[in-house]
Amino acid sequence: MISLRGVSLTYPNGTEALDGIDLDIQKGSFVFLVGHSGTGKSSLLRLLYRESVPTRGTVVVDGVRVERLRRSRVPQLRRSVGVVFQDFKLLLDKTVWENVAFALQVTGARTRDVMRQVPRVLDLVGLPHKSRMFPSELSGGEQQRTAIARALVHNPKILLCDEPTGNLDPSNTTEIMELLLRINLKGTTVVVATHNQAVVDRMRRRVVRLDAGRIVADEERGLYFGNEALRATGTTGAPALGPSAFGVGRGLG
Ligand SMILES: Nc1ncnc2c1ncn2[C@@H]1O[C@H](COP(=O)(O)OP(=O)(O)OP(=O)(O)O)[C@@H](O)[C@H]1O
Ligand SMILES: [Mg+2]
Repeated sequence: MISLRGVSLTYPNGTEALDGIDLDIQKGSFVFLVGHSGTGKSSLLRLLYRESVPTRGTVVVDGVRVERLRRSRVPQLRRSVGVVFQDFKLLLDKTVWENVAFALQVTGARTRDVMRQVPRVLDLVGLPHKSRMFPSELSGGEQQRTAIARALVHNPKILLCDEPTGNLDPSNTTEIMELLLRINLKGTTVVVATHNQAVVDRMRRRVVRLDAGRIVADEERGLYFGNEALRATGTTGAPALGPSAFGVGRGLG
């Protein structure tokens, strides 16, 4: 679903954000991208929705050579890749419904499709009862769920989340992670850049660790600081927790 080969990114000011990245992410998987501040997590995500183009290397997303994509084709890519940010980026003068509907309307969607898709995604994120509220009337968790609904309204194959719980308290964080798992169980490939060690360690999903723009660890069922760190402490560690640890059943969706 996602494939990077020899990808490097140097910003115009000379900062080398990524250096020789090789990464494959299978369809339907759930991957954490971790690493200290400034190690290139956001830069890597930006390559996947063509917010940036690599200085070297190839980026393939859903069969498309993203770095070669014509500008006119970018909107099409953005429909198959939904993006969620730490600061929600909602339109403050629009209601929940309008924020989600707007994402469809700007692509010229028919009213009939808007009327069908908006309730579908608001239902999915558990917000149908808040559809007339403005962002200022919502909790942080509800604002993030609105942003996730908006990211899902085109039925993307991939959902990219850059610190999706960075502004949330622990209970809202758990709620949002449950939601991301549920979305993943329905078949969407989910990539989450995060600093949240508790979340990463609890979920035991694939963890890709960046340091100075390079991948320094890549483990299935990994931990934030790597399984190596766990073995070094001599403990066996807690059993891996699946979606049920967040109250999400396998059969949901
Ligand atoms: N637009 C930009 N222009 C120049 N340099 C940038 C730009 N965006 C990021 N950088 C630099 O690229 C490097 C990687 O930044 P990036 O934002 O990808 O890190 P990050 O891992 O997402 O960090 P954080 O955890 O703080 O969000 C950093 O050194 C940063 O200063
Ligand atoms: Mg970042």
